[in-house]
Amino acid sequence: LKIGVLASGSGTNLQAIIDRCRDGSLDASIALVISNNPGAGCLERAAAADITTLCIDHRQFSSRADFDHRVVSALQQAGVELVVLAGFMRLISDVFLEAFPGRIINIHPALLPAFPGLHVQRKAIEYGARFSGCTVHFVDGGVDTGPIILQAVVPVLEDDDEESLAARILVEEHRIYPRAIQLFAEGRLRIEGRRVRITPSVS
Ligand code: GRF
Repeated sequence: LKIGVLASGSGTNLQAIIDRCRDGSLDASIALVISNNPGAGCLERAAAADITTLCIDHRQFSSRADFDHRVVSALQQAGVELVVLAGFMRLISDVFLEAFPGRIINIHPALLPAFPGLHVQRKAIEYGARFSGCTVHFVDGGVDTGPIILQAVVPVLEDDDEESLAARILVEEHRIYPRAIQLFAEGRLRIEGRRVRITPSVS
């Protein structure tokens, strides 16, 4: 399975995917890493792994659609079959969804549908939630609203702050994201309306 990773930040989820591809537990190869952020750590991680990188700075485009067209054509030229958003801080427009229907996934550091959007670790603490976690989902036209593939739960501890909770969640992100991509690679994900059915492994 050829994947394209879009990231805007440090790229620890990208790194987890790189590591799983390397150790053979993920039947995928990363054809391209695109970031909208020139200084992002994800670009360095990709370069260190000899993966083709592209920095497409959204500030140089007059519209979201123009930016998306540029990103989509780069992914298509690289033969990408699955688009993996890993801390990509840009909304995905219809241009993107039409180019890769049912082939864009995202990871969110909360148990959707709770806490969509940004700063969700802090929001979970402020709300007094006893548990939080992370969600891998297909991307649809909404913000963090697509069909859920996998989730993992972590406790919210009394003395947690945003950083300590985020760190605990990240550990689980690095575990379930490669697993979700592997399920896609094995053709075991069936979108049925709002839900994703995971078909049994054939082997
Ligand atoms: C992760 O917490 C992810 O859930 C969120 O952005 C962060 C990306 O972190 N979408 P990294 O760049 O993969 O380290």
